[in-house]
Amino acid sequence: RTYKRFMQCRLDIGWLCNPLLAIYESLIPTEEEKVKQKQLLALLEKLVNKEWPEARLYIYGSCGNSFGVRNSDIDVCLEIQSGDIDKSELLLKLADILQSDNLQDVKALTRARVPIVKLMDPVTGISCDICVNNMLAVVNTKLLRDYAQIDVRLRQLAYIVKHWAKSRAVNETYQGTLSSYAYVLMCIHFLQQRRPPILPCLQELDTTYSVIVDDVRCAYFDQVEKLINFGTRNKENIAQLVWSFFHYWAYQHDYTNTVISVRTGHLLSKQSKDWTRRIGNDRHLICIEDPFDTSHDLGRVVDKFSIRVLREEFERAAHIMQHDPNPCATLFEPF
Ligand code: CTP
Ligand code: MG
Repeated sequence: RTYKRFMQCRLDIGWLCNPLLAIYESLIPTEEEKVKQKQLLALLEKLVNKEWPEARLYIYGSCGNSFGVRNSDIDVCLEIQSGDIDKSELLLKLADILQSDNLQDVKALTRARVPIVKLMDPVTGISCDICVNNMLAVVNTKLLRDYAQIDVRLRQLAYIVKHWAKSRAVNETYQGTLSSYAYVLMCIHFLQQRRPPILPCLQELDTTYSVIVDDVRCAYFDQVEKLINFGTRNKENIAQLVWSFFHYWAYQHDYTNTVISVRTGHLLSKQSKDWTRRIGNDRHLICIEDPFDTSHDLGRVVDKFSIRVLREEFERAAHIMQHDPNPCATLFEPF
C-alpha cells in the first residue's frame, strides 16, 4: 500500500512543475544585471592594477557559480603575491585605493572570519565584498558552474532549494544551519545518486583541468560541453526531484553513519573520515565533504539544536509537496 501511494505521489506531482519553474525563472538574474557586474569588476580591476599591476580579481560565489539570484551582492577575490605584508595591512591598503574613487561605504573588515573590504558602487547600485587569496573558493566556484552546465535540472533544483532555505531561515551558518554552498553540494550529490544518474562525478573522470591551490591538487574533467546528454536517460521532472530531495533528507539519509561526497559521487562512511565524534566545535551531525578541501565538513556548523530544526524543515517540505493543496505558497512561507 505504501509503495502504491508512493508511486501515485510521483505520478500526480507533475502539475507542480510549471509553478516551480515559474519561481525558478523569477529568481534568475537579468542579462542587464550580469553586464553591470562585469562593469564593476572591470572598474575594480583598473583601480587595483594601478597600485599592483600583477594582482588579479576573480568573481566567486553565487555570481560566478550560476546559482545566484537576482540583485545579490558580488563576491570578489583578489589574488596577489603578498610577500611578508600581512592580510590586515593589505586590506587596509586596498580600502585606501578604492576609497579614492567614486565608490561608497568602503570599509575594511580585518577581524571577520574571512577578512574583507566591503563597498558599494553608486553607478550600478551593486554591493561587493573583496577577500584576499581565497583561491580555493574561486576553484570550487568553477566546479559548481561546470556541473550546472550538464543538466538544467541541477540549476532548477538548487534555486528552489536555496529559495526555500532562505524563506525558512535555514541558510544561516551563524545560527547553525547550512551555507548556500552546502545546499548546492547536496543538490549535486543527490543528482549523482539518481538511477539513472542525472549528473556524473567530474572528479572521477579523466583530468582535463588541474591546479594546485594551498597545497591541494584540484583536478577534474571540465569539458562539460561533451556531457550535455549525460542525464537524458533519466526522465524525472523537477517536481519529482524537489519532492525526492526533501524526502531523502527527511527520511532516507543515514545521519548517523554517512557522509555525502561530490568528489566520489558516493556516500562515504563517517568512520573512514574519522568524523564519528565531536572534535572541538565540529560535531559532524550532518556530513558534507568539501570536494577539494576534503578535511572540511560543510556541516560542521550544525549543532544538536539546529540539526533538529533542519530535519523538521526537511520533513515539513516533503509533507507539503505531497499533501498541501497549494504547495508553492506554503513551501516558501516565511519562517
Ligand atoms: N565557500 C567555501 N567554503 C565554505 C563556504 C563558502 O569555499 N564553507 C565559498 C564557495 O566558493 C562559495 C562562496 O564561498 O561559492 C560563497 O558562499 P555562500 O555565500 O555560501 O554561497 P553563494 O553561492 O554566494 O550563495 P548566496 O546566493 O546565498 O550568496
Ligand atoms: Mg554569496
